[in-house]
Amino acid sequence: MRNEDSSVQATFNSIARRYDLMNRLMTLGSHSRWCKEVAQTVTAAPGVNYLDLATGTGVIARAVRAQSPDSTIIGADFSESMLDVARGVQDNSGIVWQFADAHELPFADNAFDGVTHGYLLRNVSDLDKVLNEQFRVLKPGGVVSALESSPPSGVLAPFIRLGMKVVIPTLGTVIGRDREAYKYLVSSTLGFLTPAALRLRFEQAGFVDVQLKPKFMGTNIIWTARKPG
Ligand SMILES: C[S@@+](CC[C@H](N)C(=O)[O-])C[C@H]1O[C@@H](n2cnc3c(N)ncnc32)[C@H](O)[C@@H]1O
Repeated sequence: MRNEDSSVQATFNSIARRYDLMNRLMTLGSHSRWCKEVAQTVTAAPGVNYLDLATGTGVIARAVRAQSPDSTIIGADFSESMLDVARGVQDNSGIVWQFADAHELPFADNAFDGVTHGYLLRNVSDLDKVLNEQFRVLKPGGVVSALESSPPSGVLAPFIRLGMKVVIPTLGTVIGRDREAYKYLVSSTLGFLTPAALRLRFEQAGFVDVQLKPKFMGTNIIWTARKPG
C-alpha cells in the first residue's frame, strides 16, 4: 500500500467512532437520504449481488439491503475500525463485512450486478486503478452508483469554501475530537477533480451512460455509470 493510502487508512481508523454523528452534522442530516438514493439507483436494475466499497460504518450497504432484502451484499473497506463499527450495528443480516483495498479488489471478474461507494474516490492514491477495478468486478450491464463530494463552483464558491474551512474543522475539534482528520476531509474535497474531469475518468475506465445528480449546491454528487452489456 502506498504511503498516501496508509495515511488515509490511519485517519479513518482514528475517526471511526464518531464518524456517523459528524457525517450527519456536516451534511445537515442529508447523508442517509443520499445513501438511500444511491441504493435505489443500483438496485433499480435486476440483480442479486452487490458490493459496497469504502463501506465505512455500512450506511449504503444497509440501504441496499433495505431495497433488495434477498440479495447478497459485501461491505468492503480498508479501515478495520470502520468495519468494527459496521459489525457492531445490531441488524447485519444479509451483509458480509470484508477488509479490502479498493486498488486491488479480492473479487473475481464480472462478480457483481452493482457496485456502490460513498466518499471513496477523493481519498485514493490511484483513481484510475480504483475505477478499473470496479469495472473489472462488475458484470456486463452492471451499474456503479456513488456519492462523492465535489469542490464548490459558481458565484457562491468562495463563501462555501470559507464555510467548509471554518465549520468542519471546528465541528471536528468539538464533536469529532480530531481537528487534523477533518481538515484533511475538507482539503481532499477542495482539491478533488471537477465534475467534468471525473466524468472523463469514468469514461476512460470504460463506463458508459455516466450521469450525475448534484446535491447541496454541488458540493456532493451522486454518480451513476454502467459497464457496457
Ligand atoms: C468518508 S468514509 C465514507 C463511508 C461511507 N461510504 C459513508 O458514505 O458514510 C470513506 C471510507 O473510505 C474508506 N477508504 C478510503 N480509501 C480506501 C481504499 N483505498 N480502499 C478501501 N476503503 C477505502 C475509508 O476507510 C472510509 O471508511
